[in-house]
Amino acid sequence: MRRKITVLPGDGIGKEVTRGAVEILETVAERYGHEFEFQYGEIGGQAIDNTGSPLPEQTIETCKNSDAVLLGAVGGPKWDNQPSHLRPERGLLKIRKELNLYANLRPISYYSSLSESSPLRKEIIEEVDFVIVRELTGGLYFGKPSERTTHDGKEAVVDTLFYQKDEMQRIIELAFELASKRRKKVTSVDKANVLESSRLWRETAEEIAERYPEVELEHMLVDNAAMQLIRNPRQFDVVVTENMFGDILSDEASVLTGSLGMLPSASISTQGPNLYEPIHGSAPDIAGKNIANPIAAILSAASMLRLSFGMEVEAEAIEKAVGETLDSGSRTGDIAEGQVRTLTTTEMVAEIKGAILDQEAIT
Ligand code: NAD
Ligand code: IPM
Ligand code: MN
Repeated sequence: MRRKITVLPGDGIGKEVTRGAVEILETVAERYGHEFEFQYGEIGGQAIDNTGSPLPEQTIETCKNSDAVLLGAVGGPKWDNQPSHLRPERGLLKIRKELNLYANLRPISYYSSLSESSPLRKEIIEEVDFVIVRELTGGLYFGKPSERTTHDGKEAVVDTLFYQKDEMQRIIELAFELASKRRKKVTSVDKANVLESSRLWRETAEEIAERYPEVELEHMLVDNAAMQLIRNPRQFDVVVTENMFGDILSDEASVLTGSLGMLPSASISTQGPNLYEPIHGSAPDIAGKNIANPIAAILSAASMLRLSFGMEVEAEAIEKAVGETLDSGSRTGDIAEGQVRTLTTTEMVAEIKGAILDQEAIT
């Protein structure tokens, strides 16, 4: 079957890692007899440079007219001093809103061959396997007003944390659905000792939990959660939390896997195409050097195959190839703890591609 995939490479290493992910998708298409049609769109800083907007209308149309979207990353120092409507990040927020991508799934999985790449001890990170379910289209990122202002004649600023209850319901429900197919535990992370929004979040979680008697619900304050993630990460199965807490906790959690360059994500839409993206950014410090780790982007492409196209076997083929490549000792610089030779981005992609082609056909 023919599938239309919109690719939004964006800025910095976004371009380098999506190129790798597309190559892997092409390999899978060839190997398993699928037809993927790739269409490209502009987003972020490069879109600002070329069109004056971080998310041109044309890009929105292209995305809506596709079966799934693969995104790299946006942003960079070149655009850091732009007014807020002309920042690359605004393009990313807008595409999330336009496509109603209310849930962002960020799985954290342990690779035994990377146990030396994490600064944490092996006994702590061994067998870690949980998913952060991050609310993606509400909260502080989207609340209005969000502006510079004056108060009592003095310079001031306001950002707004706004949620409607149904926005909480749908994300928490998704977390329970996921947990009911996993180890049956939901940890809802909030700041209910301080924030009214968190108190409604907690209440909502309690209400939804009644419909899932087989799933255990636990509440955890976000400051404690940040600590527990490092102290005892195996206690988590599904972590559900609001937009900004989820952003921060997932970068922290990436350390458990060895590198930010390992973590994929899937953004789930209420109705349209889903979007798949690594959780990392455009990494200006290593951009243009062909040394970024492409695995987060490649694993994001694998989730696309599984969640948008129902191609479970093909998704597993990619994940297995990544595992085998790491087992064989291949490393990009970010996960190369103690290793003499490191691979470039393109070399890593070639290794993973080779591993897919070498696999016995799984059907
Ligand atoms: P970042 O995620 O870009 O980088 C943080 C650190 O991790 C850097 O040292 C970087 O070199 C390293 N890193 C990230 N991905 C890597 C990979 N695949 N391989 C190897 N190393 C990797 O975060 P930052 O530096 O805080 O932000 C840079 C820019 O990216 C900012 O403009 C920010 O707004 C943007 N950003 C975009 C997204 C996105 O598009 N989804 C996500 C986060 C940050
Ligand atoms: C992410 C990023 C974005 C976010 C930024 C670039 C807007 O950090 O995807 O995690 O905070 O959502
Ligand atoms: Mn982030």
